[in-house]
Amino acid sequence: RTLRKFFVGGNWKCNGTKESISKLVADLNSAKLEDDADVVVAPPFLHIDEVKSSLTERIEVSAQNSWIGKGGAFTGEISAEQLKDIGCKWVILGHSERRHVIGETDEFIGKKAAYALSQGVKVIACIGELLEEREAGKTFEVCFQQMKAFASKFSYSYAVPSWDDIVVAYEPVWAIGTGKVATPVQAQEVHVAVRDWLKKYVSAEVAAKTRIIYGGSVNGGNCADLAKQEDIDGFLVGGASLKGPEFATIVNSVT
Ligand code: G3P
Repeated sequence: RTLRKFFVGGNWKCNGTKESISKLVADLNSAKLEDDADVVVAPPFLHIDEVKSSLTERIEVSAQNSWIGKGGAFTGEISAEQLKDIGCKWVILGHSERRHVIGETDEFIGKKAAYALSQGVKVIACIGELLEEREAGKTFEVCFQQMKAFASKFSYSYAVPSWDDIVVAYEPVWAIGTGKVATPVQAQEVHVAVRDWLKKYVSAEVAAKTRIIYGGSVNGGNCADLAKQEDIDGFLVGGASLKGPEFATIVNSVT
């Protein structure tokens, strides 16, 4: 892991009010965070600007989605150039809730990611299998297909992206919001497989450098064991990221 700085993202999803978010920001501002971890939080679009101006610069801000291309007549969408304009450095794309609740396809997600990168917005690229896919022994196949959809769009995107601007988040869908965290062994197994995939289809250098983080019911109690795994380079946290002190514990699980 020496080549890869620990990375912890907080995905606030569609949660929060002005009041609860200002309390969360105050808690994060007063938390003691280890230096050797990158920390990013993803508020709902509505709150990004306010969070950016009130949150310590130690923590970067991410969006939870962005449009597939240049902005314009796309009601309800937010474009990558608009994110860049307000200083939002990251976007989460391919989250399972967008894949499976909203119906985004691999192709659509891949194009969004390539476009965001072309605008200088870094991407947290999410992958992960459904429970029935895991039970059918298709975990690797599904994750590789999702990786391929990202990587193939990158290879003919508007500008050749740097994999330095991409963090891969492995989030098994059965572990998200269920309290059923993957075991360290289960997560490590997929992280190694995804890293091998990068080695085979992108390059050994990219495989060694790219951060692969785990998401799905991570909390203050289970993060330390997961963080010990050689190929788990951090976390993408949902529910527990809404509690400042617990999120700080997760950041500080960096080994
Ligand atoms: O993106 C993070 C996420 O999907 C995990 O959510 O609530 O299981 O930590 P949660």
